[in-house]
Amino acid sequence: MNGFESGVPGGIAMINYTEKIPNNVDLGRDRVLQRALEHWQPAYMGWWYDMGPNESHNYEVYLRTAISVEPDGWAQFGYVKMPEYRWGIFLQPRDEKRELNFGIHKGQPAWQEVPGEYRSTLRRVIVTQGDTEPASVEQQRMLGASCPSMYDLRNIFQVNVEEGRHLWAMVYLLHRYFGRDGREEAESLLARRSGDADNPRILGAFNEPTPDWLAFYMFTFFTDRDGKFQLCALAESGFDPLARTCRFMLTEEAHHMFVGETGIGRIIQRTCEVMKEHKVEDPPDVRALGVIDLPTIQRYLNFHYSVTLDLYGSDVSSNAANYFTSGLKGRFRETKLDDDHVLTDAEYPVSEVVGGKIITKNVPALTALNERLRDDYIDEIADGVGRWQRIINNVGIPFRLTLPHKGFHRAIGNFAGHFISPDGEVLGQEAWKNHESEWLPNSKDYAYVQSLMSGRVVEPGKFANWIAPPARGINNQPLNFEYVRFN
Ligand SMILES: [Fe+2]
Ligand SMILES: [Fe+2]
Repeated sequence: MNGFESGVPGGIAMINYTEKIPNNVDLGRDRVLQRALEHWQPAYMGWWYDMGPNESHNYEVYLRTAISVEPDGWAQFGYVKMPEYRWGIFLQPRDEKRELNFGIHKGQPAWQEVPGEYRSTLRRVIVTQGDTEPASVEQQRMLGASCPSMYDLRNIFQVNVEEGRHLWAMVYLLHRYFGRDGREEAESLLARRSGDADNPRILGAFNEPTPDWLAFYMFTFFTDRDGKFQLCALAESGFDPLARTCRFMLTEEAHHMFVGETGIGRIIQRTCEVMKEHKVEDPPDVRALGVIDLPTIQRYLNFHYSVTLDLYGSDVSSNAANYFTSGLKGRFRETKLDDDHVLTDAEYPVSEVVGGKIITKNVPALTALNERLRDDYIDEIADGVGRWQRIINNVGIPFRLTLPHKGFHRAIGNFAGHFISPDGEVLGQEAWKNHESEWLPNSKDYAYVQSLMSGRVVEPGKFANWIAPPARGINNQPLNFEYVRFN
């Protein structure tokens, strides 16, 4: 019997945590599926022990755990021994009247089972999303040893356990709807490794190292936000179980981006305060005071922004058109958009390099859906960078953080193979290479940032010299709260 009692009058739909796999999908009614997932569970735990946060197994961490899918009150906070975190399966409740909102099947009831003709495409979409979740845990696994505070240590663990839960979310769909192929894919999701030469993760940015906390915050700001936009597009899917899964994942994702934005904001704040106090501006003088100079932050930003832009795929893509037309993947906020949601005659501008110049031309909007999602993402990124800029302005430091041109340092799409400066100038390879160390983090930058990460700061309420404390604690706890018990 499943513990999820939806529709209890006046009550909150609670998840039963005495079950082996907490869920709100009535798992207990499908013995075969339940057994398959219970078989996958120890393999998952093996992966977590090998590839989850290093040396965290005895820690008790003040974590939030999902207890329902109600918008208010979905999470509960308390100490959890990390490997005992209850990774569960949660879907938003079904809306019986939901229809396909776009593409050629628009107006038909949303699919509750996988349409045969789209089976392999849908499986690929789910596997690609699922693969990013464990990848980021692997990328971040060594960072606990250099955390700037107990508060930050708790936050990285929160992000890690929730990425683990997102893997569960995708594996549930694979097991439930894709039979034997799905079970094999679920095993492969535990076999690939971020950065592995022989069996890497599927997407480029998820094979890049995350060597330090500046990179971690950049990753959660830039790359977790790619996750948000992909989830938003999949939350529109005509395949209803996928849409419902993604909607709940988005609830958790917001915290990951918060960790990134405030993390970078706090680093900038601290750097600017030290610059002001000691009246220094030159990077070597700033570094001598043990904080991260602003040009280095700009270079990290350039790197994480550009590798994340590649995750959206080619500017012009017939795959993207097919996903949309067949109702598998919508646009960002599809149902709020005021058009025909079929896009037969619409156009959309994309850029390309012709004869040493960047030109923009209109192409059929259907083929430009990757580019459109990338542009929606860029809008949101620009707002966040604007908020960081305000921190700099408020301290009165004359420095401008900028987003590089969309074509800078790209490996996928129309700009791949071209050498574009952050200002959007088309250069030759040599000219570009001559500036590379000004535009992207160089070996000295990495070595300097690494030198700040020599040990961890874990006394409650204390923060490393290079980062300001946050404005408030987690779940209204004070900043000197014991967010992690080391035992
Ligand atoms: Fe995730
Ligand atoms: Fe995330």
